[in-house]
Amino acid sequence: MKTHQIAVLPGDGIGPEVTTEAIKVLEALAEQDTDFNFETTEFPWNSDYYVKHGKMMPDDGLKQLQSFDSILFGAIGDARVSDLVTIWELILPIRKNFQQFINFRPIKLLKGLNSPLEQEKPIDFAIIRENSEGEYSDSGGIMFSGEEREMAVQNTVMTKQGVRQLTEFACDYAEKRGAAKITNATKSNVISYAMTFWDRIVEETMEKHPDLDYEKYYIDALAAYFVQRPESFEVVIASNLFGDILSDLGSAIVGGLGFAPSGNINPSGEFPSMFEAVHGSAPDIAGKGIANPIAQIWSSALMLEHFGRKDLHDQVLAAIEATLVENQTLTPDIGGNATTSEVGDAIIEKLKQ
Ligand code: NAI
Ligand code: MG
Repeated sequence: MKTHQIAVLPGDGIGPEVTTEAIKVLEALAEQDTDFNFETTEFPWNSDYYVKHGKMMPDDGLKQLQSFDSILFGAIGDARVSDLVTIWELILPIRKNFQQFINFRPIKLLKGLNSPLEQEKPIDFAIIRENSEGEYSDSGGIMFSGEEREMAVQNTVMTKQGVRQLTEFACDYAEKRGAAKITNATKSNVISYAMTFWDRIVEETMEKHPDLDYEKYYIDALAAYFVQRPESFEVVIASNLFGDILSDLGSAIVGGLGFAPSGNINPSGEFPSMFEAVHGSAPDIAGKGIANPIAQIWSSALMLEHFGRKDLHDQVLAAIEATLVENQTLTPDIGGNATTSEVGDAIIEKLKQ
């Protein structure tokens, strides 16, 4: 039996608090399932580390992480260190160097939760966001600095390989899940080079998947449809910028940051993928033991699915839903008075039933 090697980067603030619960749940699963086994190695690369060493990780940090099967990341961010440093020196180097082209974001209204949309229809789709190029490229510059004619240029970079690989991943995911349709978020009516290129590569790639239906919406209209008829989506593919905005909108309609997990995925498996809750280090509640651990536990379930254990993923999600439906053990962000670890314990209790 394979022992999955998991690198754990708890980070700052509530990062370690919620990550502890996620590992607790994985341990309970390993106890129950004789075919599932894992080992964790913790890396203390956070803002404390930066204050002590003047860097977010050692010079060979990426090399140390590279041999792991997967990375479980808490959250990073602390008033003593600029957010630009924590993001550009830790999170982005991991995402970029490990070619985590895919940002996978399930948008699912869990049983026991109400959507602010106050609608009864199920919401259950995935946003598959391009995670390494597009509008968030480092290409551009500022000219005539300080003068009246000062100007800035930031380039959007779309590559055939990048768009193709994203579309392939989305199609594979849709087929595995029995989804019927891919929705493309675009703006090719106005962004006439990059987005027409994007559409063309998406559509060429989709020709190899004639079993899947395809629809394309301009991003502004699509944002409205997320609110008006979220039940109509199955798999949404989006560029880096559009996917960033859509996924926050998506998580808002299913209960917010406490219920927003994510995977940064290297589809080839050449490098480890990284799983993390979408929320940050929440300094306002850090240390109080009241952070909602569900997003991080759900992120670790996505990791199990990535390991090929969709069955374990489903068990974790069912245990989370059973806890929500029971409506007894909830953290304050969703109206309860339980602690982070009590919620972790309740989910484990449900797993055992
Ligand atoms: P945040 O997500 O940390 O917090 C926003 C609000 O949501 C806060 O009121 C917080 O208490 C609440 N919240 C977040 N997660 C929660 C949870 N699990 N349970 C209960 N309440 C929760 O975002 P904010 O305040 O903008 O950023 C704080 C720090 O986190 C900054 O330094 C920022 O750069 C960093 N950050 C890091 C991210 C990462 O590591 N990937 C992502 C987003 C922000
Ligand atoms: Mg975002």
